[in-house]
Amino acid sequence: MALETTTVALADGSLLRDQAFIGGRWCDADDGRTFAVRNPASDELLATVPRMGVGETRRAIDAAADAFADWRDRPAAERAAVMRRMRDLMLEHRDDLALLLTLEQGKPLAESHTEIAYAAAFLEWFGEEAKRIYGDTIPSPHRDKRILVTKHPVGVCGGITPWNFPSAMVTRKAAPALAVGCTMVLKPAEQTPLSALAIAALAERAGLPPGVLSVVTGDAEDAPAIGTEMTSNPIVRKIGFTGSNEVGKLLMHQCADQVKNVSLELGGNAPFIVFDDADLDEAVAGAVLCKFRNSGQTCITANRILAQDGIHQEFVDRFTAQAAKLVVGVGVEPATKVGPLIDQQAFEKVSRHVADACERGAQLLLGGGPHERGGTFFSPTVLDRVSLEADMSREETFGPVAGIHRFGDEREAIEIANDTPYGLAAYFYSRDVGRIFRVSEHLEYGILGINTGFISVEVAPFGGVKESGIGREGSKYGVDDWIETRYLSLGGIDN
Ligand code: SIN
Repeated sequence: MALETTTVALADGSLLRDQAFIGGRWCDADDGRTFAVRNPASDELLATVPRMGVGETRRAIDAAADAFADWRDRPAAERAAVMRRMRDLMLEHRDDLALLLTLEQGKPLAESHTEIAYAAAFLEWFGEEAKRIYGDTIPSPHRDKRILVTKHPVGVCGGITPWNFPSAMVTRKAAPALAVGCTMVLKPAEQTPLSALAIAALAERAGLPPGVLSVVTGDAEDAPAIGTEMTSNPIVRKIGFTGSNEVGKLLMHQCADQVKNVSLELGGNAPFIVFDDADLDEAVAGAVLCKFRNSGQTCITANRILAQDGIHQEFVDRFTAQAAKLVVGVGVEPATKVGPLIDQQAFEKVSRHVADACERGAQLLLGGGPHERGGTFFSPTVLDRVSLEADMSREETFGPVAGIHRFGDEREAIEIANDTPYGLAAYFYSRDVGRIFRVSEHLEYGILGINTGFISVEVAPFGGVKESGIGREGSKYGVDDWIETRYLSLGGIDN
């Protein structure tokens, strides 16, 4: 039990919500139960929110169905105007939203500010993009027929979002869905529901009609009931999910029964390859950003750093020196670069990965265990000569732990990089144009960062291949996942 409560001092206190948002109403769970949302930096209580289940989810789905026809039939520009107001309100309340995000998730405040801007950008981008959803006419092979293609929203959608980007993953799903005329029932992660509820509060203020976006909250134990209602209720035509492979596969199985559409953004195991011809300053800076952003808790973090023979030692020395400078602390402290891990389970996984790598012969160059701050703070860690069989080479570590492996030539780097069931993001550094093309063409990943360690932007398609998922979020391609194509065959035309 938490001994203390963190005072959440927002300029606009009404953005801290302790009720869920269903059909345009703020409400408690039917049985009045709640669960605690805690600050991962201190374990202090931030708020309690409703523990909901099947009944409340069903009501949210019904409300989304009721809202659908009117929302769908509005001109795209009208929907975009509401979304633009949501975006403006998010930016107007950026300080409050960022603080809330840091308090419930732990990331440094500067990163939360970046995330709020990123989250707001999806609302603007997709609101505008939906104005450009065009149909088609196809030359008919028959004199008396015409062939038209029209585009339509998928319908009522379910969104299930993770704790590592509690604001951006909400809008990355809700924005394209709403922009094209879908309605959505959203279930945020139990660790971080407050950011999603604050977004719902701003959506209400922006004039989003009741039922177009509902937020159903629930604890880890409630998630299966809420998820199963979303996947089994025939009103819901699509599920968009970001999270673990295990849950993603389960949802996909469940959706198969009704041949429900899915978009899945699942785990990664990103290689970060530094070739001999790389600009080492750039490569070191990119690797530090990519690895330690959000304490390594991103699906696109550098999970396996591969350094070529010729630069290996220099890269390792410089990378370790930079990692040693990272200030570990509470996210609201201005100097903090690495915050706590989200919870004890995450801390244990990271500890297990480090121990396993060391047992398999890795050299520990920095950190390696709990940080003196206590709780779930983990010291930035660098390990060299990590075995490719180590757990941290095979699975996502999701922590501030960098594992480095030395390789000989380009072919070997590509083989190692592709030797995983995952295919979300990969990175490499090289100044050789021929190599840039060769390696880009052979890496089996949905996203490639070339001479950059930061690839997230609303205008580009985010998504993976292989077991990393299905579909794309962001960009003009991200619209396609929320629309259906209809073919109209028009006969009886005399010619
Ligand atoms: C993720 O880790 O799933 C999202 C990362 C991002 O969009 O930057």
